[in-house]
Amino acid sequence: MQISSTLTSTPTDDARLAEILANPGFGTNFTDHMFTVEWTPADGWHAARITPYGPITLDPAAAVLHYAQEIFEGMKAYRHADDSVWMFRPEANAERMVRSCHRLALPVLEVPDFVQAVSALVEVDQRWVPGNDGAGEKSLYVRPFMFASEKFLGVRPAEHVTFMVIASPAGAYFKGGAKPVNLWLTEEYTRAGRGGMGAAKTGGNYASSLIAQQEAYAHGCDQVVFLDAQEGKYVEELGGMNMYFVYDDGSIVTPETGTILEGITRASVMELAGKMGHQVTERRFGIDEWRQGVAEGRIVEIFACGTAAVVTPVGELRTKDGVTPAPASTELTMKIRDALVDVQFGRADDTFGWMHRVV
Ligand code: PLP
Ligand code: COI
Repeated sequence: MQISSTLTSTPTDDARLAEILANPGFGTNFTDHMFTVEWTPADGWHAARITPYGPITLDPAAAVLHYAQEIFEGMKAYRHADDSVWMFRPEANAERMVRSCHRLALPVLEVPDFVQAVSALVEVDQRWVPGNDGAGEKSLYVRPFMFASEKFLGVRPAEHVTFMVIASPAGAYFKGGAKPVNLWLTEEYTRAGRGGMGAAKTGGNYASSLIAQQEAYAHGCDQVVFLDAQEGKYVEELGGMNMYFVYDDGSIVTPETGTILEGITRASVMELAGKMGHQVTERRFGIDEWRQGVAEGRIVEIFACGTAAVVTPVGELRTKDGVTPAPASTELTMKIRDALVDVQFGRADDTFGWMHRVV
């Protein structure tokens, strides 16, 4: 892919950038540039470019605004102690976006083009990748997304599609950092049904999660737990994270795929835990197993994981019928979290070949 570059004449000055990177929060400040490439049936992907970050114009009839034909990805770039900059498994995000493209009837952006696009933006905005001051949480969150930009109100796959990449320096996703998050169980709303879009990373899934997320906040919880749509019995995932249940014999269960988002962190945690000697099983996991397992002391840890929130211990489960208390321990959770972030920040050997050097 040939990428043209028009750099900003007003880059963020060093003092302002230092201020942002000192306390980046999540998803509020954006780098100086963005990547764009467009697709039409006649020309395929064309006009790849890096330009100054800024608002885009969309026709009011752009299909995405009406029918939500949209997908996105979430990934991070990390600065290592020697100042080199690395991304974590960008090919895995690229492959997941290909699967999302198929589900949302969007044109496929090939894996190497995706990786080239995210790398190009991270490289041009490399001074926005935070250094780490010992806390080891800061990174540059990279958000690739694709949407139906065609001006047309008929319901069919768009014939003008735009793929963009933006990036935003990020600290801890939850205000409390790696402290246990309490979860709210929604029994009214579901996230995805059989044949639906649950495995695709598409905005519609997040739109449908918001009302349940609002309920979670109202109950003092940071995230919401979704159950399967068919029987309302099996744990699927959180609004933005996958889940793990650790038993007293060291074995680990994670809900099977199909209607959940197949997290890159989820897959990586399975490999890391396996390497640490834990047996990891993907299967249906009943909400009653959660309640009973904790009550009987057989479930000793629960954690959730995702790119934005990394690996986070789960505390209480609050439901309309009462509370399941937090499991006793967070020991393995923190061990897995440390093993993962140590690879991401270059403090441990990358034995799985996950890291991709950008700068
Ligand atoms: N599940 C949902 C609904 C998510 O939004 C995310 C976050 O991206 C995940 C799971 C975890 O996926 P990943 O580890 O690829 O970030
Ligand atoms: C991510 O972890 O990348 C997510 O997409 C979670 C949330 C910010 C939507």
